[in-house]
Amino acid sequence: MMLKGKNAIITGARRGIGRATVETFAAQGADIWACARKQDDVFEADMKSLAERYNVDIRPVYFDVTDETQVRKTMQSIHKQKKDVDILVSAAGVAGEKTSFLMSSMENIKSVFETDYMAVTLLTQYVVRLMIRQNRGSIVYISSIAGLDGTPSQYAYASAKAALIGGMKNLAREVAGNNIRVNAVAPGMINTDMGGEIQDDLKEEMLSKVIMKRMGRPEEVANVIAFISSDMASYMTGQVIRVDGGV
Ligand SMILES: NC(=O)c1ccc[n+]([C@@H]2O[C@H](COP(=O)([O-])OP(=O)(O)OC[C@H]3O[C@@H](n4cnc5c(N)ncnc54)[C@H](OP(=O)(O)O)[C@@H]3O)[C@@H](O)[C@H]2O)c1
Repeated sequence: MMLKGKNAIITGARRGIGRATVETFAAQGADIWACARKQDDVFEADMKSLAERYNVDIRPVYFDVTDETQVRKTMQSIHKQKKDVDILVSAAGVAGEKTSFLMSSMENIKSVFETDYMAVTLLTQYVVRLMIRQNRGSIVYISSIAGLDGTPSQYAYASAKAALIGGMKNLAREVAGNNIRVNAVAPGMINTDMGGEIQDDLKEEMLSKVIMKRMGRPEEVANVIAFISSDMASYMTGQVIRVDGGV
């Protein structure tokens, strides 16, 4: 039980890597604020069944990560619960439109940055304030190998994911003295709704570069997130961990 006694905030919890992270964290003993965009009965039932299966506390929390007012209100309500926030995993993200650089609209670039970079930064600011008071914490950004290597037809997404890595490295240096670790995972092609959006011919080309010749499963990313969030990784900060089947 790597995360026994820890309280974690996980965004993007309704599906994909975020949902897998909730389940892995629950299996490892963490109590969780599972964050989704909108109230949803199916999501609530899913979280309730995970909480019962793993005997942990999972509280559904609803906000749009790009809405500053909603983020502030959510953090105020979490703060009122008088529980420490040990871990933040920001998994909510969007891929944006897939098009050549010259055809990329500024509107799309701004909107991808809004969700994949600005929203992560905003929530992290709120959480870091709490973690500094606690003198303890662990933060994990979900970047992408697109942010390290680039990826065809996704200028905005690759740039936003690269910006997250820069922010992560900077923040890791700033808060190390407060006993807060900040790391990122960089998944490759993962079998989620977002991973499924890649066109078939492009998917084949990308898979040909993967040593393991398959897409990853969301839980394979979640396992790495759980490890770097946990005290097992107590001497790791400022790092980007690729979870890509070998590219
Ligand atoms: N799949 C891959 O191949 C891959 C590779 C590298 C990195 N990643 C990164 O991993 C993270 C998770 O991706 P995924 O594959 O799990 O994607 P996904 O299946 O498309 O899920 C994305 C999640 O983000 C949430 N979300 C998006 N915009 C939001 C907003 N404004 N407010 C609140 N929630 C919002 C979605 O909520 P709703 O359910 O309400 O829409 C959904 O739960 C993302 O940051 C992505 O960039 C994915």
